[in-house]
Amino acid sequence: MIYADNAATTRISDRAFEMMMPFLREQYGNASSQYSLGAKAKRAMEQSRKQLAAAIGADPLEITFTSGGSEANSWVLRGVADIYRNEPMHIITSAIEHHSVLNACHALEQGGVKVSFLPVDHAGRVSVEDIEAAINSNTRLVSIMLANNEIGTVQPIEEIGRLLKGKGILFHTDAVQAVGHIPIDVKSLNVDFLTASAHKFNGAKGTGILYKQLELEFSPLVFGGQQEHGLRAGTENVAGIVAAGYAIEESVGEMAERAKRLKSMVEKTVKGIKEKIPFVRINGDYENRLPGTVNLGFDNISGESLMHLLDLKGVCVSTSSACNSGKDEPSHVLIALGLSEQQAKSAIRISYGKYNCTDEVENVVTAVYDAYTKLIANR
Ligand SMILES: Cc1ncc(COP(=O)(O)O)c(C=O)c1O
Repeated sequence: MIYADNAATTRISDRAFEMMMPFLREQYGNASSQYSLGAKAKRAMEQSRKQLAAAIGADPLEITFTSGGSEANSWVLRGVADIYRNEPMHIITSAIEHHSVLNACHALEQGGVKVSFLPVDHAGRVSVEDIEAAINSNTRLVSIMLANNEIGTVQPIEEIGRLLKGKGILFHTDAVQAVGHIPIDVKSLNVDFLTASAHKFNGAKGTGILYKQLELEFSPLVFGGQQEHGLRAGTENVAGIVAAGYAIEESVGEMAERAKRLKSMVEKTVKGIKEKIPFVRINGDYENRLPGTVNLGFDNISGESLMHLLDLKGVCVSTSSACNSGKDEPSHVLIALGLSEQQAKSAIRISYGKYNCTDEVENVVTAVYDAYTKLIANR
């Protein structure tokens, strides 16, 4: 099998797996317990907090563990709305955010919050000028993702951060696809909130983080005990948290070498497919993008059928984001790029990761071409 859907999720790294295992069996203490078994769990969790903070240039006190990216994103949107609950409120976001941001915005709209969903250009880039033009006296939050999950386009977050500096507007970036894959420094991005998810960087599923700038007061997500500085009560997922720490440390350590390898694999894949199917289109930005992710449009076939045929050949790719697959709607991201419904439905996403090797490219290209030819012949 060739797994080329690392934007959906990743295999846990061997080291992260090895380091988390003791916390499921021998070191199973509750991190809040006062005896040594609990203290060991607590120490391991705090070590992970340091590892994650170091990876994004944050202070460990600015990191709160969550169950993943969706939870962290929803928390930011609801939490900011809660701060301004007695005032008119306007949020700026983009049309291509993950549904955990978009649907949180829709829920807030029901309560009277105004939301601007900014368009993107044909490459999926948000314009800084559009953000500037959309700001009004009620704008309290700008939420723009760092890198898109379907097309890999990386947004000009540092420029947006510069624009917002000193304006009293909070700035959130959903960095779920970016953390562990491209260099990130929260201070130079000038963000107040950043969200990430460990299963996207070879950690375990069910662990994410919210980075929240230190001075910001925020309301708790879960009420109960004093875990996570009183912000998210409940017994912590110690093993998952430990895995996240080692996974991010490893990802950052390997980042430069891995990015180079994945970028070259994507380039070889695109070249190989284009040689056989010349009109294939790259959806998204081929320059400012995640190294391992590419979205290809075939126009005259169904991306979903292509994905299923590739599955039969042992190649895992996807048509849109994992949480939206199975729905018969075209991807909101591809539609926002200006593609027709049919073009949007003809796309597949290939996303390589840590455990892919260059040798696999040739098989991916052959499998795509064979599956494509079969679909054309059966039309
Ligand atoms: C950009 C982006 N944001 C948020 C999420 C949600 O993360 P999680 O699966 O950890 O809830 C994903 C997952 O696909 C994503 O790609």
